[in-house]
Amino acid sequence: MSKEIDESADFDTRAVRAGTQRSQFNEHSEALFLTSSFVFDSAAQAAARFSGAEAGNVYSRFTNPTVTMFEQRLASLEGAEDCMATASGMAAIMATCLATLRAGDHVICAANVFGATIQLFSNLLARFGIAVTYVDATDIGAWRAAATANTRLLYCETPSNPLMELVDLTQFGHFGRAIGAVSVVDNCFCTPALQRPLEFGIDVVIHSATKYLDGQGRVLGGAVLGSRAFIRDQLLPVLRSSGPSLSPFNAWVLLKGLETLAIRMRAQSAAAQALAEWLERQAGVARVYFPGLQSHPQAALARQQQSQAGAVVAFEVKAGNSNPVSQRERAWRVIDAVRTMSITANLGDTRSTITHPATTTHGRIAQADRERAGISEALIRVAVGLESVDDLKRDLEHALGSGAHADSRHD
Ligand SMILES: Cc1ncc(COP(=O)(O)O)c(C=O)c1O
Repeated sequence: MSKEIDESADFDTRAVRAGTQRSQFNEHSEALFLTSSFVFDSAAQAAARFSGAEAGNVYSRFTNPTVTMFEQRLASLEGAEDCMATASGMAAIMATCLATLRAGDHVICAANVFGATIQLFSNLLARFGIAVTYVDATDIGAWRAAATANTRLLYCETPSNPLMELVDLTQFGHFGRAIGAVSVVDNCFCTPALQRPLEFGIDVVIHSATKYLDGQGRVLGGAVLGSRAFIRDQLLPVLRSSGPSLSPFNAWVLLKGLETLAIRMRAQSAAAQALAEWLERQAGVARVYFPGLQSHPQAALARQQQSQAGAVVAFEVKAGNSNPVSQRERAWRVIDAVRTMSITANLGDTRSTITHPATTTHGRIAQADRERAGISEALIRVAVGLESVDDLKRDLEHALGSGAHADSRHD
């Protein structure tokens, strides 16, 4: 297969072309290799491929040309030496944990990470003798105070889901090196189009490719990126033996997603910025969480480490009183009254989505932990898509202002 990689090209060019490998048919668009295994010229070649003495495809659980193209394109965009794709974002997080942790180890994790990530640490890995401490992501002092002699992994998202809190990447990477722990950042909300954590000294980047990398809500996928030594020597053996592989079909869809990543992220972030500024002026809104607003406590940090603020905006509705039941009723009424946005838990789609985190994405977390993380019943998350931002404002204006009965929805 011939390759088409120019690593000195600009981000937008690499998003379209990096990683492309052409077969003997010289196809222009990437080929989709729907095959579970590959044939060898001889028994000796089979042995050499299996042992790793000869490079080449063996079996699609751990080598497939379409998946490799996706991995190499994403590695180029994140500025990583290497990448391995996984079946989902959660599979990427789990594989990273299996590659770095053993019984007796300790993890420090930001308290504001995605709900399923908390389940993975608290309910699954805890059964295998791995301890976790949750800390306020924004307070590097809290990370330092939580460190023990057994701390091996530091885990965060920045910006976080759904409150858009940031972790200072430079300090986070520095702290990891100081205590000999692997620093891991879930870069799902920004993608490499807006933020490249490895450039700030982070060891490993995780993606739920399901979100902005696909960008159109079609497939599940994930990826882990880092040094060649980490990916080949620590992660590959885990993936090869445990099997959460990305399907070639999903890799092909994700390759197409990456081609439009930069242009989508720029447009969706600009629309989110406009929507967040507008929301801050609405009488029915108590508070807006968006790192592109001057009111965001980490707005300066956002400008340092991100090229734009991202496309997710969270806000609290005014409920008349602080009773959680009234807050939930008010938030649900607003959500039920939108007509353009989709009520769904996914994000990163060209279609804007609206979610009530406390009862969906973060619903399995104990109420006390949820409250500690600041996710109130009044909170609504909007992931801004590619519709006209004026239509989105009209949609929310109607929803915030109406007595809010669910009426005809426009799909
Ligand atoms: C920030 C973040 N990380 C990881 C995940 C998990 O990804 P997946 O659903 O692809 O397993 C999600 C899913 O919503 C997410 O929002």
